[in-house]
Amino acid sequence: MTSSFPISNDNEVASMKQKEFFEIETVRLDDENSAIVILDQTKLPAVCTEAVLKTQEEIFDAIYRLCVRGAPAIGITAGMAYYLAAKELVSADPQITPEKLTESLAKSKTYLAASRPTAVNLFWALDRMERVYLANRQKNNDEILALLRAECEEIKEEDIRVCRAIGEYGLTLVNDGDGVLTHCNAGRLAAASYGTATAPIYLAHERGYRLHVFADETRPLLQGARLTAYELHHAGIDVTLICDNMSAAVMKQGLVQVVFVGCDRVAANGDTANKIGTSVVACVAKQYGVPVYICAPTATIDMQCSTGEDIPIEQRNPSEVTELWYEKRMAPLDIKVYNPAFDVTDHTLIAGIITEYGIARPPFTESLPRIFEKKAAAVQGDEE
Ligand code: MRU
Repeated sequence: MTSSFPISNDNEVASMKQKEFFEIETVRLDDENSAIVILDQTKLPAVCTEAVLKTQEEIFDAIYRLCVRGAPAIGITAGMAYYLAAKELVSADPQITPEKLTESLAKSKTYLAASRPTAVNLFWALDRMERVYLANRQKNNDEILALLRAECEEIKEEDIRVCRAIGEYGLTLVNDGDGVLTHCNAGRLAAASYGTATAPIYLAHERGYRLHVFADETRPLLQGARLTAYELHHAGIDVTLICDNMSAAVMKQGLVQVVFVGCDRVAANGDTANKIGTSVVACVAKQYGVPVYICAPTATIDMQCSTGEDIPIEQRNPSEVTELWYEKRMAPLDIKVYNPAFDVTDHTLIAGIITEYGIARPPFTESLPRIFEKKAAAVQGDEE
């Protein structure tokens, strides 16, 4: 079976311009060329290069293949994709009727929404773009496009503010010299800037704290090794890579004071879907008395899901487990493989959910609604 996850092809890579990591944004809109430009994460850490996505199919494929990944970055990309879909429809037919535009945009939205099922930011961003379109569909095409463009840029700008606020709240939970363990990549590469789980780490670094970060390698796609270790190391942060089965060893030795992880969807009771293996970390942390914090923009909290049971979990290609990264296949042919991309950490294992509006503590069925009340009040305050 062939891999669903691309490995750098030397010829392809040689023709691309390698750039410095901090020169490249995770996702950006290139409106002049009607494209989304991403840092292609499938090529890291060997090659740091951009990929240009022009068609809806290319955008879908880049999300599916994790060229762009992480819940916030997927949401940002989806917002830009919706805008580009509208732009393409209008430029192909400047006389397009509002009915036809509405119908075609609904189709685009359904198509993009099928790229990955778990991160709720994908649906959240598409719904947000659609709301702007529907509220303004009586306007002329230029006005509609300007509003959609502004909205997708705002989703990205907002992510920077949100992650920074999460970082500030997270920073109150660490002390100089602490060990922090993280799983997968909820970093700058998963968002517009700062990341979620890495936001307290970056802010701590800016302010001179000496944190020691343990990055789980994160089988099977190695987001921890390829991405988290890469970006933190680049930033000059003290990071140690460990295999996923080493978290108990470091926690037992007292090397970890706190676990910060990201999330793809948080249910109303606090159950949290994040990269496969997160719930193992949380079980181990409970054994050793280490608090686990979920770093969650409110965009990633889905109050429509009452528990983790309601969260759809993406299943991926078995070859990611049996072949990818190996010189030759490392499992018997025809072996059965289970390859869920995410697991759900039970809310009972979570000490707190860090949002841009504060830290929600158990019971989450009470604290999360209060976070959304704070958000509603802040939004209303901004509108007045
Ligand atoms: O499959 P991925 O790499 O998209 O999974 C990403 C994660 O699980 C992240 O922890 C999550 O999306 C939060 S990113 C701020």
